[in-house]
Amino acid sequence: MKIAVLVSGSGTNLQTLINKLHNDTSSNIEIAVVISDRKNAYALTRAKQAGIPTKIVKAQDYESRIAFDEAISFLIEEYAVELIVLAGYMKLFQAPFVRKYRNRIINIHPSILPAFPGATPVSDSLSYGVKLTGVTVHFVDENVDTGPIIAQRVVPVYDTDSEEELHQRIQIEEHDLYPKIIKLFAEGKIMVEGRIVSLPNSKL
Ligand code: GAR
Repeated sequence: MKIAVLVSGSGTNLQTLINKLHNDTSSNIEIAVVISDRKNAYALTRAKQAGIPTKIVKAQDYESRIAFDEAISFLIEEYAVELIVLAGYMKLFQAPFVRKYRNRIINIHPSILPAFPGATPVSDSLSYGVKLTGVTVHFVDENVDTGPIIAQRVVPVYDTDSEEELHQRIQIEEHDLYPKIIKLFAEGKIMVEGRIVSLPNSKL
């Protein structure tokens, strides 16, 4: 199965997907293209080092957000991508893009949704004072971080945590969970009805 990975930043999740899926010939999953909205994203270097094609699609180069999404859609079709994987991609899609790829766009978010949606979930969790946080993998719908939840992992918050320390603890779970979910999707084992997602009795 061909996937596209969309990034904006450092790309540690992308690196895990390269190591655990793309470079594992038994997985049958190929990262066909990595798309970034930021030309300096370190994730692009990681993709190039793995020999994966990279594309930069910047919102400011398009007259509207619909046209920006269409440029991404063009690449998705060009590379015959079956699953769009957001890995630290910090742009929102407009409704037509989401409708076109319904239940074929997944995102990873560093909180237990619906708590702390948006762009700064780790610092928001710390300043709220929660004692548990974690990771959510979900399908993308028309709103921000509200799509059907596929899987979640819980992570403790310690009194002494800095934002960086907490994010690192969350990322350990992200790097373990995301490839497993993508594998299940590729095997056709993720069922969606409305907003209820069911998975086989696999240990996640
Ligand atoms: C990850 O922690 C991911 O959950 C988060 O950005 C980070 C990207 O890290 N995504 C969001 O906050 C989406 N709202 P990475 O570039 O090292 O993979």
